[in-house]
Order: sequence, then C-alpha cells, then structure tokens
Amino acid sequence: SKFTLGMIGLGTMGRNLLLNMADKGFAVTGYDKDPKMIQKLKEDGAKHNLTAYSSLEDFIGSLELPRRIMLLVPAGPIVDSVIQELLPLLDKGDIIIDSGNSHFTDTSKRAEDLAGQGIHFFGMGISGGEEGARFGPSIMPGGDKTAYGEMKEILEAVSAKVNGDPCVAYIGPGASGHFVKMVHNGIEYAMMQLLAEAYDLMKNALEYSNEQIHEVFAKWNNGRLQSFLLEVTTDIFAFKDEKTGGYLVDYIKDEAKSKGTGKWTSQVSMDLQLPIPTINEAVSTRDLSKFKNLRVALSKTYPQGKYTVGDKDQFIAELEQALYFAVITSYAQGLHLLWQASITYDYKLNLHEIAQIWRGGCIIRAAFLEDIYQAYKKQPDLEHLYADAGIAKKLEEILPGMRSVVSHSVLTGLAVPAFASALTYFDALKTARMPSNLIQAQRDFFGAHLFERTDAEGTFHAIWNPAKP
Ligand code: 6PG
Repeated sequence: SKFTLGMIGLGTMGRNLLLNMADKGFAVTGYDKDPKMIQKLKEDGAKHNLTAYSSLEDFIGSLELPRRIMLLVPAGPIVDSVIQELLPLLDKGDIIIDSGNSHFTDTSKRAEDLAGQGIHFFGMGISGGEEGARFGPSIMPGGDKTAYGEMKEILEAVSAKVNGDPCVAYIGPGASGHFVKMVHNGIEYAMMQLLAEAYDLMKNALEYSNEQIHEVFAKWNNGRLQSFLLEVTTDIFAFKDEKTGGYLVDYIKDEAKSKGTGKWTSQVSMDLQLPIPTINEAVSTRDLSKFKNLRVALSKTYPQGKYTVGDKDQFIAELEQALYFAVITSYAQGLHLLWQASITYDYKLNLHEIAQIWRGGCIIRAAFLEDIYQAYKKQPDLEHLYADAGIAKKLEEILPGMRSVVSHSVLTGLAVPAFASALTYFDALKTARMPSNLIQAQRDFFGAHLFERTDAEGTFHAIWNPAKP
C-alpha cells in the first residue's frame, strides 16, 4: 500500500514533523539526497518502521494519489530547484506544500506557475521550532481551499492543541499562509527585543544579578505576561556555563543575527503604508548591535551617566506594566498589518482564527492571545486591537507604568527603542488632530504638492512666498 504523505528534506524540522505524523498513525515516508539523513530518520523512527528514499522516482512512485509532498528545505532557490525536479514526475491534482520560511511573493509566483500545470501549491508556515515539529506546532497553510481538504486531517492531527482545538486553520488563498507566518515572526522579533530591554533595565538601572532577574521573569511568567518567550528567557537566566561556571548569558557576544523574516515584515509594512514601528525597532536594533566597534568607541566619547532608581520594587511593578503594554502593542501592530494585507491582497483573513491557532505550538504563544482571540471573535472586522473595549480598559490601567519606565530610561540614557516606540505609537494613534497639516503645508510650499482643507472639498495650492519673483 502507498504512503499518504512524503517529506522532502529530512533535516531537523522535516524529520521531526515526519515522526510526529507517524506517531499519529499516518503512513508517511521521506526523501533526502543525503544518506546520513535517511539513516537518522530510520533510527529515530524505528518503532514506526519509517523508511525514506534516496531516489526521487521511487519516492514519488510510493505516494498515493493525489500526492501530498511536503518540502522542508531551506527557503530560496533550493525550493525552485526541487520543484523543477519534481514536475516531470507529478500528475495533475498533486499537492506540493512548502513548509519553510519562504518569502510570500515567491510563494505567490510559484502557486501561479504551478496552478497552470494543475498542481496545487501550498505555502505553509510552521512555528514552534524542533520541539513544536516533533510534538505539536502551530501551522499556517495558505492556498487552494479545496486542496486543503486533502491535508486537513493530517495537519489537525499533528498540530498543537489548545482546549482540544487544533492550532491549524485554513488561512486563505495564495501566499496568505507564508504572509501570516512572516508577521508572526515580526511579532516574535518585537517580543524578544522587549524582553532584552527589560533585562537591560534590570541589569543596568537596578543593578540586579542574574539570579534576581531570573526571579522577576519567573514571577511575571506566572501572571498575565505568561508566554513561551518569557519562559525561555526565564530559563536562560538560570543556565550555567560549563566552561566558566558563570551564567552563559554573560559570555554570549552582544551582536544579534537574523535570517530575514523580521526584515521582510518591516519591508512589507512600508509597502502597504501600515506602520509597525515596534517591530521595525526590533529589526533595526538587531542590526545596530552588529556595530560593536563603533558602539565601544562611542561609549567612551559619551559615557553612561548614573541614575539611581528610588524604589526598586515599584520600578519592577511598573516594568511589568510597561512590558505588558508593549507586548499588547506588538501584537496590535502585527494584526493591523494582517488586517491591511487582507484588504490589499484579498486574503480574506480571519483574525480570530489566526489568534486561535497562535495560542499554542508557536513561538509567540502567550496567555494574552486568549484576549486577542476573544476580541476578534466578538468583532471579526475590528480594525485595530486598541479599539476593543476590553483591551482599552487594560491599556488605561497599565499606561502609567509604561510612561514611568520610558521616562526613567530616557533620563538615564538607557536605550529602550522598542518600549519607546510602542509608547509613541500609542500616543500618535490616539491623537485626533496630528501636526501633519504642517507637513502638507511644507510640501505645498516647496513643491506645490497641494493640500486638502478642513473646511472645503478638493485640493488647493497656496502662493506661500508672494514677495519672491
Ligand atoms: C518559529 C521561528 C522560526 C525561526 C526563525 C528565527 O516560528 O518557529 O520563527 O521560524 O526560529 O526563523 O528567525 P531569525 O533567525 O531571523 O531570528
């Protein structure tokens, strides 16, 4: 009998997802060029008698129709070359599922090209890392809805579950699955940066030890801030280095790397003219961190002043409020971007379903996602999370802490780009009349770019400097 699904790429993610599928009772197989990867799958999947092929023809021949072929290979040109190798071997109606972090524009193009040849192409985001793949990730598939029916059962079986609900849902047409995964990663970048800034404040404004920082994070993680990233962060501050006996975190270079998904989120937000400044700051600050030599030199030119915090317990209470405020804001920005993309690209996104499948399995899973889920369930067309009455009540309550922490940081000279941007974003968005009238006046003054009036329809131009010839 033939296999229900075949995985191409048996690296960490592909192998673990395949093992997860086998655990759930599906007849699955794999393909990899590298015999070592095949060997590893056979060893890890011994109890299920998992097999894999090193011949693409044999692999394709072993799959039932319509074929479900999942790719977990590095994003970029490799995806295209695998597709080209596959094409001559496929039949109309077969389904290719690209589960890597591909750029959504690549996915749109591939889906269009393949649709012309009768092949269903799915761009599918998978979040949760190695553990998630093995025991339950959050899954974001986008593509042809009818073809999704062929994958639903297997995806629901392997995904994470929250209150019995699977953390997978059909996201929408085209590249919407990869788009939503990209925005997930943008929010991930923002949350990571916020946690890093909270750490910086505890370390440098409060002069807390790693043990104290660990305790604070652990306490927060038992409350409304509970989240996977906070849990990970808490554990990092208890992790000892074998080599030195100290805390490993202190021995890690302060230069952050990235693979591009955060940057893509920022780039798209500029294209769609939908601001997500806290995510942008998270992307930029990773890049800024790479200028180590310049930073060290400038730290001598502009030495850090001392600023003592009077009541440390109070500061910690405010920092918890500030973090909550900024985390809410990061989700709000990401969801606002999804709201806009849904209109611009006609993705028809269901934001409450997206919040629902982010509640478990993924890197940005957090207690707060339940609130987001409820807000969008109640109001599916909600434009912005800030506009929900329940969220507004929360923000009002924690705003004083947010203002206090950002003020402290600004006065001390400690950099809090993500916190500060979250607060100014909020302040700008709740401004009924912004000073943007001046921008329009300036544009019209030097470039005759015209302006609109508050008291009349149409566009206008003023002769701003009649004295000059
Ligand atoms: C996930 C992660 C995953 C990966 C990112 C990290 O949802 O499981 O987001 O996709 O960890 O690619 O991205 P950077 O290397 O850019 O930090």
